[in-house]
Amino acid sequence: MDIQVKQQGNDGLQFHLSNNSVSLVIETVTDGYIFLRHFGKKINQYNASNWAQFIDRAFSPGPYADNRCFSLDTQRQVYATSGMGDFRYPAIMISNEKDMGLDLRFQSYEIIEEIVKLTGLPSSHADKKAAKTLRLTLVDDVLAIHVKLFYTVFTDTSVIATHVEVTNNGTQPYVIEKIHSAMLDLEHSNYELIELAGAYAREKTFQKTPLKQGLMSVNSRRGASSHQATPFTCLATPTTNEEQGEVIGMHLVYSGDFEAGVFVDQLQKTRMFIGLNHETFHWNLAPKQTFTAPEALITYTNQGFGAMTRDMHHFVSNHILNGVYQKALRPILLNNWEATYFDFDESKILALADKAVEVGIELLVLDDGWFGKRDDDNSSLGDWFLHEKKLPKGLESLVEQVNEKGLQFGIWVEPEMISVDSELYRSHPDWCLHMANRDHLYSRNQLVLDLSRVDVQEYLIDAMSKVCTSANISYVKWDMNRNMTCVASALRQYGVKEISHRYMLGLYRILTSLTAKFPHILFESCSGGGGRYDLGMLAYMPQTWTSDNTDAVCRLQIQYGTSFIYPVITMGAHVSAVPNHQVGRITSLQTRGAIAMAGNLGYELDLTQLPQIELDEIEKQVQTYKAIRPIIQQGDLYRLLNPTTTPNETAFMYVDKDKTAAVITYCQVLAQAESPTVVLRLKGLDETASYIDMETKKSYGGDELMYVGLTIPLERTDFYAVTFHFEKC
Ligand code: GLA
Repeated sequence: MDIQVKQQGNDGLQFHLSNNSVSLVIETVTDGYIFLRHFGKKINQYNASNWAQFIDRAFSPGPYADNRCFSLDTQRQVYATSGMGDFRYPAIMISNEKDMGLDLRFQSYEIIEEIVKLTGLPSSHADKKAAKTLRLTLVDDVLAIHVKLFYTVFTDTSVIATHVEVTNNGTQPYVIEKIHSAMLDLEHSNYELIELAGAYAREKTFQKTPLKQGLMSVNSRRGASSHQATPFTCLATPTTNEEQGEVIGMHLVYSGDFEAGVFVDQLQKTRMFIGLNHETFHWNLAPKQTFTAPEALITYTNQGFGAMTRDMHHFVSNHILNGVYQKALRPILLNNWEATYFDFDESKILALADKAVEVGIELLVLDDGWFGKRDDDNSSLGDWFLHEKKLPKGLESLVEQVNEKGLQFGIWVEPEMISVDSELYRSHPDWCLHMANRDHLYSRNQLVLDLSRVDVQEYLIDAMSKVCTSANISYVKWDMNRNMTCVASALRQYGVKEISHRYMLGLYRILTSLTAKFPHILFESCSGGGGRYDLGMLAYMPQTWTSDNTDAVCRLQIQYGTSFIYPVITMGAHVSAVPNHQVGRITSLQTRGAIAMAGNLGYELDLTQLPQIELDEIEKQVQTYKAIRPIIQQGDLYRLLNPTTTPNETAFMYVDKDKTAAVITYCQVLAQAESPTVVLRLKGLDETASYIDMETKKSYGGDELMYVGLTIPLERTDFYAVTFHFEKC
């Protein structure tokens, strides 16, 4: 890891950030203009082999009367502004009543021997000596606006972390109308844009589109990163596969509205960007104030999607997740939601606990319906005290009994919401996001609390602290079941377009406080499944409920998309009842188990209703998972067959870091007549070692499994899944 600074001639500096895998080269030129020269594979030295050509291009204006060739419109910029001759999609827009341009010129730099953490926002972390940061200060002298760009390079990953700070050093107030967190101007546009799109219960669907001239945007304006989009995009050269091809990725460490994408210009250069969504954002920047935009990550590999995935998994596990559970194995849980929905009492929960213990489950989670008078989803959000009719002996007594059986106890909350039918709403009708002159818009019959207000933040810290201390709680599922509308605050102390970002700052403040107060609690984030599965939430809660859709076949696609960028250890995956409650499909218990074992295994069905033969099978699954859990949760993921390219077949494998053990899962969706034989070539093993199949006890060479392959037994059945476990001899 290194940051080199070279003087070039009289008026230029060259900054070269690098480690073993990646290089970023930035140059300053005449009059403080600043250009990007390279982002990609690590190079040992940069001597301007791709020197900047200055050509007189029609309709591209510039600052020099005697030089028609210089225009910001045609060069690879580092952080583009609007109004100064670059007509492409800008990274930043600032205005007041008189001015709406921003002329940023390089002023100074600093090399900081560590990562710079963001205040009030989630951001990556690294040990001292494991990261170095370049800080560039750019200044607009007319507006007295200072922009600081931070780039952090790490010893152990190709990921570069970047963020932006804007300070108003003048005497006039300004409005930040748009601010992106990362921008990369790339030399050409021969890429495909990849995004993880979707819907409720159909999250993280892999989508690939060739670039075209103009704007292509991936975004959310729902007040959450959303089911429909993911704060991530990557560009891949068209022939990229799991093992080869260039992939340039961008991620935002944020959970609210965002915008990512590309703008391809008239000269086929590509501007890639990610940041806050300017449609729902602006910020009043008073004199002497600084605004910090969320952190972004930029990634590069020329070894295909597989390498990108493993690099991101490593980065998130080591530099985004926090706390006791950062790398710790996750408990196997039983959640009562699909088992009972709202219809439970103490004896039902204890009966579930008995069965859970019998099969070896480790944690019992009491989902929605334990508070206020919540018998359906129409009331009580905000009333975080016990539903005494359901649990008359109290929560503490229930948890004690569950603990005595040998199970940990977890609880569901949805703190950010308020039901109109709640004591909280009756006492504080102005605590929800709303516009004074408009009626509410309902979704699941609930409203969103105004987390931009400090009094609401304090109330939530207090209410959730009470829940967490009311009994021996080991796990909290933090849900969020609607998107935001009428995003305004009754206090009217801020501009209305500041509220959605101030909401996120309020949420992050609450989460910082609660995770510090309750470090032993495993928090799992949820938003109707994966509606807020992002790096912002993962910085506080090291696990997410991947999707409300628990159908094994749908999960192939959802888990493929999710694990494309997020580590498997963060991914909640449950076995549920059949016919499946979301899509009605009937799949075997074996298949449901095999697919749920691809993440953090849990169960979400009424174990008291299952025949003994199925309970025995579940007990076996739980035992198997306990044996392979470290390989899955802490190992490396290799995809063998992807549901996007071979929709009828999916196969993936995990190898532990020392290559001493591997787990392989193959799944066939529909049986076919005369289907070809399947021989899977494994990946990531030690070529010189032998591995034993733990079931058949037959051993094979690592090279044999990788270059000859493993035959998958053919089965004439739909929805078939099989798992293999190999250990090094
Ligand atoms: C959301 C969650 C579910 C469940 C319900 C409870 O939909 O995703 O897992 O907790 O809320 O209302």
